[in-house]
Amino acid sequence: MAILPIVTYPNEILEVECRKVTIFDKKLKKFLDDMYETMIAADGVGLAAPQVGKETSIAIVDIGDETGTIELINPEVLEVKGEQTDLEGCLSFPGLYGEVSRPEFVKVSFQDRKGRNLLVEAEGFLARAILHEIDHLHGILFTSKVTRYIEEDELERYENE
Ligand code: CO
Repeated sequence: MAILPIVTYPNEILEVECRKVTIFDKKLKKFLDDMYETMIAADGVGLAAPQVGKETSIAIVDIGDETGTIELINPEVLEVKGEQTDLEGCLSFPGLYGEVSRPEFVKVSFQDRKGRNLLVEAEGFLARAILHEIDHLHGILFTSKVTRYIEEDELERYENE
């Protein structure tokens, strides 16, 4: 496995529509393993392929709960419900945090590394992380959804909650 360089804003690749994955081969598996290692090394809870320079519809999410790592290939949002507002950041915007409103619940269809069709349902922080990463695959950045940026002194208050 290898740690990949993370693309930071501004960079054109962060704002493109990603291509669907059609080939589920060894190269894809290695890329997913590298993405995982990169996300862990960067202390992130999610990572999308364009953030490591690839315009492909691949994202991984791991919020450190019992769900483990979810590998989302060609994900599509099927259903959303409710609303939540919370603090959000992004590995492509180091040091930047803001409040973002997102659905409280999400249902997503996707493929795994073997090309099998699967569904995931999530709520709360996991739903937020999944929706943030799927946005990346459509070139949508969290900054376009921030309603209020959070200063560093306020950040401490959020972290203590
Ligand atoms: Co991000």
